[in-house]
Amino acid sequence: MARVISIANQKGGVGKTTTAVNLGASLAVSEKRTLLIDCDPQANTTSALGFPKDPARRTLYQTLILGEPIERVMVDAKVEGLDLVPSDKNLVGAAVELVPMDDREYKLRAAIQGIREQYEYILIDCPPSLDLLTLNALAASDSVLVPIQCEYLALEGVSELLDTLMRLRRTINPALSVEGILLTMYDDRTTLSKQVAADLRSFFGSQVFESVIPRNVRLAEAPSHGIPVIFYDIHSKGAESYIQLAKEVIVNAQKRVGQGTERVDSGAGANASAAAAGGASGGGSSGGDVGPGAD
Ligand SMILES: Nc1ncnc2c1ncn2[C@@H]1O[C@H](COP(=O)(O)OP(=O)(O)OP(=O)(O)O)[C@@H](O)[C@H]1O
Ligand SMILES: [Mg+2]
Repeated sequence: MARVISIANQKGGVGKTTTAVNLGASLAVSEKRTLLIDCDPQANTTSALGFPKDPARRTLYQTLILGEPIERVMVDAKVEGLDLVPSDKNLVGAAVELVPMDDREYKLRAAIQGIREQYEYILIDCPPSLDLLTLNALAASDSVLVPIQCEYLALEGVSELLDTLMRLRRTINPALSVEGILLTMYDDRTTLSKQVAADLRSFFGSQVFESVIPRNVRLAEAPSHGIPVIFYDIHSKGAESYIQLAKEVIVNAQKRVGQGTERVDSGAGANASAAAAGGASGGGSSGGDVGPGAD
């Protein structure tokens, strides 16, 4: 049964798509059959995998709005073990057309129900907003992976986002957990990157992935060649970091099975908001283990 992971952050340009494509490819080459769902009308995941604009191609729109089985819109992503549900700009209309529909937040959840047995991971690349497309992604997911760019005010941003996610647990998806917070575009030459990383780790503890994605030009170049970075430059720091992340995701899944538990979620958002306002320091490594009950 696939673990369904949304890659989400309302903030734009933080590395959601780069993570979806490269984590997806890294899981696939680790022999974990993976489906990538492009849930963003910008269709950057679709183009990064080498599918240029094509009005004739069926997309997630047909599934969400016209009820086409998802198997009929998915394509082989040209990487063994990796399939793609493409997007295009028509998906903008879906966010509006869903509004009057019954069960409007649960269309994607229903669409993937019948194919979850065929994959080990289903990754959903979300748009940089909290619209009905993102709500569909989050309602369909077991967990959410939050990429965070190491920059000023990152701590405040992630706190707000986790508060929002916890609210969604009370409404559309009580089972939603946090897969992890991922530091992206990390530059170890800057004090700011180091400080932001240290602050996030001190507040969110084990919820922050140990793997860190460095700022790496190969990651920015690979999409223009239509291939994941592991096929563009396997020796690059960017490729190494996403392979590392895939290993961590797999090991975390094995641990969960071993313990018979899901990872405990954060209610630490409020703590971190307060701390971000007052200057962040200290906090220990257990910030991520605070229960989700803090209303
Ligand atoms: N680690 C990295 N090193 C260098 N460039 C990166 C890295 N991660 C992402 N980029 C580049 O930064 C830009 C934004 O990344 P990406 O598209 O993955 O973000 P996003 O969160 O999906 O954006 P959006 O919110 O618009 O969907 C892209 O041009 C991408 O190639
Ligand atoms: Mg994107």
